[in-house]
Amino acid sequence: MEWTKEQRYRQIKDASDEELLELKTRVSRCPWRQTFHIQPDTGLLNDPNGFSYYNGEYHLFYQWFPLGPVHGLKYWYHTKSKNLVHWENVGIGIEPKHYYDSHGAYSGSAIEHEGKLYLLYTGNARDENWIRHPYQCIAIMDETGKIEKLEEPVIHEVPKGYTEHFRDPKIWKEGDTFYAVIGAQREDETGCVVLYSSSDLLDWKCKGELQTALKTFGYMWECPDYFELQNKGVLIFSPQGLEPEKDCYQNIYQSGYIIGDKLDVNQLSMSHSFFQELDRGFDFYAPQTTVDSNGRRILVGWMGLPEIDYPTDKNGWAHCLTLPRELSVHNGKLIQKPVEELQTLRKQQHEVKDTVCGEKKMYDGFAGTAYEMVCEFENENAAAFGIEFRADNHEKTIIKYDAIEKKVILDRASSGEAVGESYGTIRKCAIDAQKIKFHMFVDTSSVEIFVNDGEEVFTSRIFPSRESKEIRFFAADGSASFQAVKWNYE
Ligand code: FRU
Repeated sequence: MEWTKEQRYRQIKDASDEELLELKTRVSRCPWRQTFHIQPDTGLLNDPNGFSYYNGEYHLFYQWFPLGPVHGLKYWYHTKSKNLVHWENVGIGIEPKHYYDSHGAYSGSAIEHEGKLYLLYTGNARDENWIRHPYQCIAIMDETGKIEKLEEPVIHEVPKGYTEHFRDPKIWKEGDTFYAVIGAQREDETGCVVLYSSSDLLDWKCKGELQTALKTFGYMWECPDYFELQNKGVLIFSPQGLEPEKDCYQNIYQSGYIIGDKLDVNQLSMSHSFFQELDRGFDFYAPQTTVDSNGRRILVGWMGLPEIDYPTDKNGWAHCLTLPRELSVHNGKLIQKPVEELQTLRKQQHEVKDTVCGEKKMYDGFAGTAYEMVCEFENENAAAFGIEFRADNHEKTIIKYDAIEKKVILDRASSGEAVGESYGTIRKCAIDAQKIKFHMFVDTSSVEIFVNDGEEVFTSRIFPSRESKEIRFFAADGSASFQAVKWNYE
């Protein structure tokens, strides 16, 4: 179905009861609804927003167009959790109904101030000529969970030198001062980040553009996030417009980071190493981090990408969020681990220890559509070894180590219904190791694979049939030993 502008820029209240009922029924019949990931009841989810720990709970909002699987009028949808595992759907967080967010309450972040949670986000407005006017806006949530928007934006203008692509403020506090990085496009159509500061969250001053070594690196940087971890400065952002380079930048848009000295907020400078991708899979974008009461830096991403059709579109919904990951720094690199609270999802456990030699093997209890599995391989002399999962006679998804290329490879060529095939069906990344550990979280239509304790992560949607449940361990041209533990999640 082709969506007209009129259909896409409608508020939820403009939809009839019949339309909503039809949509809900269609979603409920979808074979690919997730079981332990945050997903929209209907319509399209994209970026995680306002991720924060406030008043004893984690709050996580997301970009939401309720009326169908397309990018239309965006709301902020609110979910919350006490443990990062079980999320409660709270309801609409921010409704786009003011002049300054007439065409969407776009992405932003949250910070606690004087006992309240301040949400700083981009109001996306378009005029009668469809010219975009971005405003940076504030909504305030109190302890009871009530959210109120300010009547006026706190930043009305795009500073000189930048285009209408100016959005996604990420806020933090240092001493008595609040700072926000905003994703921007220069007038010469290159991407960058601009820094603002404020003493009260209402009156903001543009400090200028953050100076990095990446002068021409894509045409727009979306969703920046700056934080400090283990004495390093980290700037995460999602650049658009990078060309594929060897195994890198294979998706339509990328997400990654630069890491180095802490940002000097007065010099606006940060010396840093090269841009590194956060995730090696097919579906990962626009992540956001927060820090919790234990001081953990936690990241959640959108498990999807813009401008790509997904098989669930016909069922009236699209996308989900990734599991929360705890970040740490090691050797100039961000290490990502699934938060340990996820272990509370573990049900029945199965274990196996064996050697595979030029063969594929299956074991009792090793099958399913929603589970966690840790598998450690030690190569003896195989050319490749790994796991086929969500498999049956016709379908399989493969994660493997190619010991000749020294690369981990995720292959979704036969994963079921195809998605984004024009961007390829395999993803690779170099790892030089004799032992390879795959820590996988498999849900009805996704897989997240943490490799060697979070050195790399492969996050992907897959759309197999419900019957594709098999798990097969294999080694090709030689042998590899392995031990695996699996926990059912249902
Ligand atoms: C990233 C993004 C953001 C924007 C939001 C709109 O996916 O394009 O830059 O704020 O989505 O939904």
